[in-house]
Order: sequence, then C-alpha cells, then structure tokens
Amino acid sequence: MSESQAAVVAKLNQTTDNVFVSGEAGTGKSVVLRDFVNTTSKKVVVCAPTGLAANHVDGVTIHSLFRLPLNDHFIDYSPNPDPEADKVLAGADTVVIDEASMVRADMLDAIDSRLRLAREDARPFGGAQMILFGDLLQLPPVTNGNNMNLLRKKYESEFFFDAEASKAAEFVSVELTEILRQQEPDLVAALRRTRVGKIQRADLDLLNTRVAAPTQMLPSPVLATKNTVVNGHNERGLEALPGAPVKFIREWQPRDGLKAPQEAPCESQIVLKVGCPVLFTRNDSELGISNGMSGIVSKLDAESATVQCGRQLIEVEPVSWPVKEYVHDSTSGRVRLVEQGEFIQLPLRLGFAMTIHRSQGQTYDRATIDFSQGRPFAAGQGYVAISRVRQLEGLTLTCALQTTDFKCSRRALAFLRDSLRASNARSSPR
Ligand SMILES: Nc1ncnc2c1ncn2[C@@H]1O[C@H](COP(=O)(O)OP(=O)(O)OP(=O)(O)O)[C@@H](O)[C@H]1O
Ligand SMILES: [Mg+2]
Repeated sequence: MSESQAAVVAKLNQTTDNVFVSGEAGTGKSVVLRDFVNTTSKKVVVCAPTGLAANHVDGVTIHSLFRLPLNDHFIDYSPNPDPEADKVLAGADTVVIDEASMVRADMLDAIDSRLRLAREDARPFGGAQMILFGDLLQLPPVTNGNNMNLLRKKYESEFFFDAEASKAAEFVSVELTEILRQQEPDLVAALRRTRVGKIQRADLDLLNTRVAAPTQMLPSPVLATKNTVVNGHNERGLEALPGAPVKFIREWQPRDGLKAPQEAPCESQIVLKVGCPVLFTRNDSELGISNGMSGIVSKLDAESATVQCGRQLIEVEPVSWPVKEYVHDSTSGRVRLVEQGEFIQLPLRLGFAMTIHRSQGQTYDRATIDFSQGRPFAAGQGYVAISRVRQLEGLTLTCALQTTDFKCSRRALAFLRDSLRASNARSSPR
C-alpha cells in the first residue's frame, strides 16, 4: 500500500463519520477497501451493486445483503422484516459499498429503510457507519425510461448523493489521487483528461495506435456496450476453439403445473467446450464459488463441467434457481411469497466477452474494446473501458475511438468538486 492509501485506511479506522472514498480509476480504492476490511476491529459487512464488483472485494451483492426484491425501482419501497438478514445488519458497525457510482438514489434510500428497520433505530442508516467507495465519473446507475420518469419526480439525479438518506447522513469525502493501475505517463495523462470530459486529439491518436488489423486475434475479454454484441463474441470465441461442444439446456420444474415465467434468472442454454473461459453466476460457499468469479473449463461431460480457477478444480453441476412470486391470500387478506417452481441450469456463462458494466472495477493485462457494433451511450462508459488495462500494449481496439465515445456527467463532476472542497474546508484548521 502507498502512503496515501495507508492514510485513508487509518482515517476509516478512526472516524465514525459516513465517508465517501473517491478517486480516478486505478487509484487503489478497492485495494484500500480490502485492507481496511481485513485489518479493522470494526464489525463490517461488504457489498457492491454487481456480482463481479462484489467478488472483487470479497463481498456480496447489495440485493443479497439487504434482501432487496428485483424491482425496477425502490420509490416508496418499504421493507418487510427478514429475521436472518436483519440479524446480520443489526450486528454490523459499518456497511462498506464498492462501486458506489452505480448505486441509484432510490436504492440507497431502500438500504436506509432496511437498515433502520433491522436495527430498530430511526437515525440515517439505522445508526450504522456507511463507507462508500467509487468514482462518480465511471458508470452511473442503470435507469430505463420507466423508472427515470419516476426518479426525476423525486430526486435531482439518479446518483446516490441525491438520495434522501445521503442528505441526512452528511458524507465526508476523501480522495485518492495517485493512479497505480497504469504507469505510462502519457497513458495516465490521457486517462485523466478523458475522465473529466477533456480528451484531446493527441490522446485519441495515442489510444488509436491500438486498432487491430482485420485478421488479428482479439484477446479476451472483449468489452462491448451491448449484450447482443457480447453474445456474438462469445459464440464466435467458442466456435474458434477446437473440440466438441456440450450443450446444457435449462429445465423448468413447475409446482402445481404452473408455466415457466418469461424472465429467468439463468441462461436458457449454455454451450461449453474444454478450454473456454467462463464466469460463475451464483454464490455457493460450499463449492467455493461466487458470482463473477472466472475460470477455464478443463473437463466436460453431459451432466457437469469442471472449471479450473487458479490451482483449484471445481466440479459444477446444474443447480436449482427457484422462482417465487408474491400472492395475495384472500382468506387471510395477506400477501405471501409462493414458490412457482424452479429452473435447473449450470451457474455459469461464457467469458470471452462481457459488457463494460460488468467490467467496472476489474484490472486486466489484456482486453479488447469493441465499439464497432455499438458506441458508448452512458456517461463514463468509454472511460471505464479504456481504464481497465495496465498498459497501452494490453489494449486492442476493433475500431478507432472518437471524442463522442467519452461523455462525462456534469452533475457528478459538480458534486465531486463541491464535496471535496467542503470536506477539505471542514478538516483543515481554521
Ligand atoms: N499500493 C499499490 N502498489 C502497487 N500497485 C497497486 C497499489 N494499489 C493498487 N495497485 C494496482 O492498481 C490496480 C487497481 O487497484 P484497484 O482495483 O484497487 O483500483 P480502484 O481505484 O478500485 O479502480 P476502479 O475505479 O477501476 O475500481 C490493482 O490491480 C493493483 O495492481
Ligand atoms: Mg475498484
């Protein structure tokens, strides 16, 4: 750890304030997070908005920690008691969240309600200390036309700092400023400018030296903006591998003859070959797997896949994906959760390619960026993609990058500047 990283860890140990640790991509925020969690005497729970990001910091997803339903939004959400989850939340001193730029305002308010309920404490976040890590100039929270309309009515923006709970909780901002993932000075300077929406012609020229020749092999993972493009790369990656494909088809086992729901939590079919990269899509502590963990298939038969993760070999069989729905019981007048049935499928997906959303938080020696079939649409999306590799040489582009690939959220930039100024003023002696 660098001196400035160690200073942040010390501060997190000392303070009971709510803290937002920010910093550019690769400034070692997640490294600080892990060090703090591993060394502190505080009772800490760790989570992140996506499975891969949670896995990176040995945590769980926000949905799983706070038992949030898979709702489109949490406006006017009020949690029901959940004795098991509530015990965990009541026992924690500190809640740590990584990749907080992707935490939506309504989600933070849902976390706040869940914590106040679980801890039987009406203070913000039920009196728990909140420590959020993230870079607001990376990907913003995911929204869609439907929830964006509702969010706009209640919140100034979709970012976590505009949640009602944030206003009450008074986050103190701390910033890491030394980029540690990359070392090449011209690359670091280009990344810094790109992040704040000030990419220059020379930066594009530097990055565009990495455009691949048409016949060149594209190193994995391929990062793309859309799922359809990701799926295409995964299919082609598989095709290019020698050996026989093995197909795993999803089964539906209904309860009381109910039909399979349209939306399923797992893939309808998974085709694998020995040697293909995969990502786990579930947590299972007995198997030693977690959502987002990656590996290479080393053996296949009709019923199972063996996946090599580092030196470990893990045999993976199809698992149950129960589907539940709330049903209103007319006799008691109450709503209850009823299991409709279960899907049976492997907890895996192909790992030749992934969306940029999934890649946030990751560091790669090599990666390919494919904007040829879909340019970045969200603020920070292009910046997240180009900031994943350690060296310029590790980057492969399928087409030239352009200025418009790098949008920057003004709201996030303004908040960042104001909050850091306010926190510096507070901590410096008068
Ligand atoms: N003290 C350090 N010394 C050397 N390398 C470091 C140090 N801290 C971090 N790094 C390197 O920088 C990389 C990025 O660190 P980390 O993932 O913690 O950054 P981050 O700020 O969380 O980035 P992101 O915003 O992309 O999530 C690490 O993989 C590691 O290789
Ligand atoms: Mg990180």
